[in-house]
Amino acid sequence: MSVSNKRSRITAPDLKARKGGEPIVSLTAYSAPMASFLDAVTDVFIVGDSVGMVLYGLPSTLGVTLEMMIGHGAAVVRGSSRACVTVDMPFGTYQESPEQAFRNAAKVIKRTGCGAVKIEGGVEMAETVAFLVDRGIPVMGHVGLMPQSVNKLGGYKAVGRNKEEAAAIISDARAISDAGAFSIVVEGVMESIGRAVTHSVPIPTVGIGASAECDGQVLVSEDMLGLFNDFTPRFVKRYADLSLEIEKAATNYSKDVKARRFPGPDNVSQPAAVKKE
Ligand code: KIV
Repeated sequence: MSVSNKRSRITAPDLKARKGGEPIVSLTAYSAPMASFLDAVTDVFIVGDSVGMVLYGLPSTLGVTLEMMIGHGAAVVRGSSRACVTVDMPFGTYQESPEQAFRNAAKVIKRTGCGAVKIEGGVEMAETVAFLVDRGIPVMGHVGLMPQSVNKLGGYKAVGRNKEEAAAIISDARAISDAGAFSIVVEGVMESIGRAVTHSVPIPTVGIGASAECDGQVLVSEDMLGLFNDFTPRFVKRYADLSLEIEKAATNYSKDVKARRFPGPDNVSQPAAVKKE
């Protein structure tokens, strides 16, 4: 047997071992090119069901199907070589029973080559998390604001606003951790709850709108790049405004087309992509 020197991907156990250590850098990705741009700095790609809103223009994540997640998950695996790829299980594909969850999660793993799946839920999903983990499927949990419960919540607002709700979120995180999850996304909670959850579990918390008290952070890539402007949560830090760049490029392209400024293969003086106005 030969020893390969190919660099291997970050795994779920690698991420679990980062508790309290170097912060985990996580971003969403839905496509091979985006994954390739972000791979070098990302520890874990979450192929989120937010793809439904961000790429498909759906009003919520509820219409996202397993086939959509498999297509996007496989693309992100193909476009990356370093980050652990974790694929969201969409609404209705895991809540019915542990067996349903295993059947669908196994499909996701086989057809995408991803390293883990993510499911939303707390105490009520602990049995399912244990069932998957016992059968070889690494699971990332997701507590706090759970977008798949938007109809029950009545909207996307921060949760844990009173003592009972805060205690329930901590119990949810403990239950998912005790069930064997390798990490938990904590979404839409105040700093005190982000801190309490992080201190209550022996696995890393990855926050989104949950303060710097978590063991890592995740953002929807299109939010942080300024590529999705329909709705931007207040906590999102913007690092670029690429939608403006796209509009500028498209305007310049359209000017070139109208002015018939397009070279053929015989009169290209420089690559069109680097040509400046
Ligand atoms: O669907 C999603 O994009 C997510 C991440 C933001 C954690 O769940």
